[in-house]
Amino acid sequence: MTQTYAWWQTGIIYQIYPRSYQDSNRDGIGDLSGIIKRLDYIKSLGVKAVWLSPIYPSPMHDFGYDVADYCDIHPLFGNMADFDQLLSEMHGRDLKLIIDLVPNHSSDEHPWFIESRSSKDNPKRNWYIWRDPAPDGGLPNNWLSHFGGPAWTFDKASGQYYLHQFVTQQPELNYRNPEVLEAMKNVMRFWLDKGVDGFRVDVIWLMSKDEQLRDEPKNPDWDGVNPFGSLQHIYTQNLAGVHDLIREMRKVLDSYDQRMMVGEIYLPTKELVTYYGKNSDECHLPFNFQLINLAWSASNVCEAVDSYEASLPQGAWPNWVLGNHDQHRVATRIGLAQARVANMLLLTLRGTPTTYYGEEIGMVDVPIPLDKVQDPPAVNQPEIAHIVGRDPGRTPMQWDASANAGFTDEGVSPWLPLADNYRQVNVAQQETDPKSMLALYRALSGLRRHEAALKIGDYTSLDTHNDYIFAYERRSGSSRFLIALNFSSETQCVKLGQPGKRGEIVVATDMQRSGNVDLSALKLNPNEGLIISLPSAEQSEVG
Ligand code: GLC
Repeated sequence: MTQTYAWWQTGIIYQIYPRSYQDSNRDGIGDLSGIIKRLDYIKSLGVKAVWLSPIYPSPMHDFGYDVADYCDIHPLFGNMADFDQLLSEMHGRDLKLIIDLVPNHSSDEHPWFIESRSSKDNPKRNWYIWRDPAPDGGLPNNWLSHFGGPAWTFDKASGQYYLHQFVTQQPELNYRNPEVLEAMKNVMRFWLDKGVDGFRVDVIWLMSKDEQLRDEPKNPDWDGVNPFGSLQHIYTQNLAGVHDLIREMRKVLDSYDQRMMVGEIYLPTKELVTYYGKNSDECHLPFNFQLINLAWSASNVCEAVDSYEASLPQGAWPNWVLGNHDQHRVATRIGLAQARVANMLLLTLRGTPTTYYGEEIGMVDVPIPLDKVQDPPAVNQPEIAHIVGRDPGRTPMQWDASANAGFTDEGVSPWLPLADNYRQVNVAQQETDPKSMLALYRALSGLRRHEAALKIGDYTSLDTHNDYIFAYERRSGSSRFLIALNFSSETQCVKLGQPGKRGEIVVATDMQRSGNVDLSALKLNPNEGLIISLPSAEQSEVG
């Protein structure tokens, strides 16, 4: 029997940060109609699904991750009719839509919290996490906010503290109260009934906290930089009880056809893979952020891929990510030349790739002048803004060389500054250049779409005996590809087969090199990646 694969296994996910993709109403902030205008471009990238960061009504204290109504659209982004149009135009193009679900916390302006805060005996009091002050009148415990300061804010009127692990305006929902989970399941149903194809679930691994609210121990390895790192978060992250919640959410998805969830989880591989569920009954994909977190080198990447592959439970489908709206951009972290290698890696590894908007054209972090900083962790902690601030990776998409890069009209002020180099680095320019990053991205996604070996095939790493080269083979039936990636800025020569073994270059990161190569002495140019088609398995073995 041939195995069948779901769209979220074979397709590429493309993340859009809606504020920054395309403005259509001259307010300097991207919106849904803007995204609709760009759907043909998105389709042309060869991706299968779009993940939209939150578009719900929100006072925007955390740019939409503070949700004031889970079942509506923020007027900044449009209205429900625009959303319905987006969904139907996407489905008409055979694209899937994944929306952000933010179940861990709401906005303090959500009607649930307004009720909850109104008095200690309000029926919704227990929908959030309230605690009396400590006997000395101080904080209930030592927990910290990811964005600086304590995780508790005192509500004078009702005389208690509420918990928030992000900004004070993001109170945490209390999943020890079954009514809350039921309400969130209804939110899921609302969007699934509309036809949404999946959810990216925000901080899913934080949804359960220690019932006794015990103090967290000091972190002996703290580097002294970000205060949040000064504690070991054993009572707020990755608690055993979270798995029951995720299983309940998964059941909702499973009662519909072909829907999925991808969970935001920053954990080492061993713990991360538990989020697939003991019986594959939790996240379809727990985001695998290793390529973001590791120090970029051939040996580290090889080690990360091999150990991840080895830890995947039976039936678990892998996934890889280079960046997102919380990170420095990949081209800034590793440099533009290596960003080409990274895109080749992302689109040739086994498992679902996620691309953050702009990675396909090599967008870089944009330095934000102090008076333009918007992101709460940076605003709250100016002394470490350069480390914790996320604005630099969220700047407007660079569409063309016109004023405001085609993101918004001339004369309008975009909500974050544009990159200085947008006149050189933009979609329109790269469309005309067959050697551009965009051309490379399309070549890679096209090859992946058409070649089963790359889409669903096995993965085996190869011993390169060279610290700078990571090489692996992908195989499906008799179809085989060898991928060789040079992580250094020097020319390298590797032996990837016995004398006489040859293969045909099908994509090179420079979009120029081609031809038949000798695998027993393969020369790789500085920062070069190659995808090499190998003779079918029956005819030859790479060794
Ligand atoms: C997640 C989001 C991030 C947000 C935080 C709080 O980490 O990706 O952008 O600030 O959750 O919702």
